[in-house]
Amino acid sequence: MPKTYATVATLPKVVTQTVTVRGWVAHLRSSGKVAFIVMRDGTGLLQCVLVKNQLTPEVWERFATLTQETSIAVTGEVRAEPRAPGGHEMGVTDLEVLGTSPHDYPIQPKEHGIDFLLDNRHLWLRSPRQVALMRVRHEIEQSIHDFYYERGFIHVDTPILTAAIGERSGLFSTEYFEEGTAYLAQTGQLYGEAAAAALGCIYTFGPTFRAEKSKTRRHLTEFWMIEPEMAFYDTHASMQLQEEMLVSIVGRVLERRQAELKELERDVSKLEAIQGPFPRIAYTDAVATLQAKGSAIVWGDDLGAEDETLLVADYQTPIFVCNYPKQAKAFYMKENPDDPRTVLCDDCLAPEGYGEIIGGSQREDDHDKLLARIHEEGLPVDAYGWYLDLRKYGTFVHSGFGLGLERTVAWITGTPHIRECIAFPRMMHRLRP
Ligand code: 4AD
Ligand code: MG
Repeated sequence: MPKTYATVATLPKVVTQTVTVRGWVAHLRSSGKVAFIVMRDGTGLLQCVLVKNQLTPEVWERFATLTQETSIAVTGEVRAEPRAPGGHEMGVTDLEVLGTSPHDYPIQPKEHGIDFLLDNRHLWLRSPRQVALMRVRHEIEQSIHDFYYERGFIHVDTPILTAAIGERSGLFSTEYFEEGTAYLAQTGQLYGEAAAAALGCIYTFGPTFRAEKSKTRRHLTEFWMIEPEMAFYDTHASMQLQEEMLVSIVGRVLERRQAELKELERDVSKLEAIQGPFPRIAYTDAVATLQAKGSAIVWGDDLGAEDETLLVADYQTPIFVCNYPKQAKAFYMKENPDDPRTVLCDDCLAPEGYGEIIGGSQREDDHDKLLARIHEEGLPVDAYGWYLDLRKYGTFVHSGFGLGLERTVAWITGTPHIRECIAFPRMMHRLRP
């Protein structure tokens, strides 16, 4: 008889039917007469029951050869079983070994050191916690695409090999034929601005690279960033959009990923509290508050991680810190007409000490002011000719921001270090696997 294949996720539709499920052994247990396999297939867990006197001797003996991570195909009738992991059970009539797995599978149900786990990241990914993290990450990504699609934003892919530098942080570079040095993009923003003048509201969503020698729980050398760029939005409209986006992402994860949040032991009441409006605090006021709380920060400094944690301690929702001093921020930010020492920008800080998840700003739309800033920063003007053209041919008020995906996943899932929030993290000392 031809086999009917099913995945664990689709089992509710085939209760009482005989199907074949393929996956990997997670747990094994046997009493001598009845044996249990808990298998996972990536979509969920299935408890398989083998009763010795209902099976051929070959099938029963095959059970004894199984080890953790053996890949198998099990055939049998599906029953609803609320007490079983995953809520279903299979009465096995046939068991096939697809791929054996030696007894030395590195990831065991015991405490492993983080370096060991990262060295074995290709296998660690199979663990329930890592699976839950990847599923929530996927939900966040999809919710972002849906959020912008529904608002008519156009998704634009921007280059990874670039000649112009976007941010101040470290650069990865490579030789590029006869063209000199190419840099791995630190941001898609500058190209996003050009696209906004063509399409109105756009977003980019791609990998970005920073050769930062920071070994913190918030820094990767390769991370994914979503960068919307909006024609005719000022800094206030941009913050409004950021707020709506974050409320929407959190709501979507709460709505669709309760099982994963439970696996991650996330306190969901903290996420349920994420509703607008988010407080907007001027940088200058933030500095005064921080000084009163004992921070050594002085006006002009960027906020450090500890300052961010101190500042958000008073709030349940993300907060915006607005209008930083010029010297603390990138060259493309628009000068604040009310206080030219500062720029029209915002950092969005996540609650619970997760720190900056978004950096945004209104862009300098005055050609000559922008050119002066490029000179001041010592940037190669010839690489920015095209960027200056955007201010020459129909300059326009526009704003945009960048949301760091891994930091957002860390916050929403309550994961202390972002290295677990991407399948294969790239950090200063980590290029493999
Ligand atoms: O504040 P950043 O540097 O802003 C930009 O890149 C702008 N071009 C964005 C824009 O206006 N279009 O980075 C934005 C966000 C940060 O808030 C943080 O969430 C994340 O990107 N980020 C990092 N995430 C992980 N590892 C790193 N090394 C990161 N650097 C920034
Ligand atoms: Mg920033």
